[in-house]
Amino acid sequence: MQIQLNNILQQVKDELAKAATVAETDSIRVKALGKKGQLTEILRGMGKLSPEEKKELGQAANAVRAEIEKLLEEKFAQVKESARKAQFKLETIDVTEPGVPYNIGTKHPLTITIEEISRVFKSMGFSIAEGPEVETVFFNFDALNAGPNHPARDMTDTFYITEKTLLRTQTSPVQARTLMAQKPPIKIISPGRCFRCDTPDATHSPMFHQVEGLVVDEGITMADLKGTLDTFAKQMFGSEVRTKFRPHHFPFTEPSAEMDVSCFKCGGKGCRVCKGSGWIEILGCGMVHPNVLDVGKLDTEKYTGFAFGMGVERIAMLKYGVDDIRLFYDNDMRFINQFK
Ligand code: DAH
Repeated sequence: MQIQLNNILQQVKDELAKAATVAETDSIRVKALGKKGQLTEILRGMGKLSPEEKKELGQAANAVRAEIEKLLEEKFAQVKESARKAQFKLETIDVTEPGVPYNIGTKHPLTITIEEISRVFKSMGFSIAEGPEVETVFFNFDALNAGPNHPARDMTDTFYITEKTLLRTQTSPVQARTLMAQKPPIKIISPGRCFRCDTPDATHSPMFHQVEGLVVDEGITMADLKGTLDTFAKQMFGSEVRTKFRPHHFPFTEPSAEMDVSCFKCGGKGCRVCKGSGWIEILGCGMVHPNVLDVGKLDTEKYTGFAFGMGVERIAMLKYGVDDIRLFYDNDMRFINQFK
């Protein structure tokens, strides 16, 4: 039995020499010292021995057990330490590595332009109204005094969805919707998307943005229109710009006009931006046609109003010197990032 004990000790030593992990070491412990382990097995066999032999072997077994426990303790300390070192190595952080740059988003130039236009009008007491992009033929044309034979109703200009619905070609239908929903005094702007059957080129896009404006109250005159839009132009393009109004035609206004601003690039001398004329066309406007006021069932003897509409892309292109409208929709970050 003494030989057996020595064998167990030697076997434990051999196995421990090879063990590299906590789990391996523990299975050596179980095999030698566990309830069904080799040492326990030997002690069980002692029953048949004489008291003398029992004492002798008991001491020898205890000595071997103590020796094995000591060896295991040392080995456990060793494998735990190397496991800890391996873990540290795995989790090592190189504080000298350069950081991973985080891409901060920027506002789209069209958003910036709409916000700027809105800010100016809000400071003059306007509020924001909204209307649907899928609109009825009634609101897009009929309610705006564009009769059945108006050229804009032609299929070539308008995306029809059904016979009675379309993608709005302008933000002007919000005028009619507002007149139906609110009583004067009315003072709103309405920024939004519009759609026209145009082939894309440097100045055309089938989807674009407008900002509509409508003011209706007692005693509103053309002077209110000119004063409001002149103030807008100076806030938007610089206090030195001058404005001029040229007669024009729109179905929903009478009289109608287009407003030009003196070129904010060259000051009016003539340059590439104003194509040598010194003036830049910015928006359409006019006094609201009585037929449109009728949509809101307003007393046209008592109430008058003015309206205006401008293209957001056109203003952004002029303001930022962008020469191709398609750049706004490409989402090329090299373009967008310039507006940070
Ligand atoms: N809706 C017109 C267009 O798309 C722009 C416009 C002109 C709007 C005159 C108006 C206005 O409200 O009074 O060309």
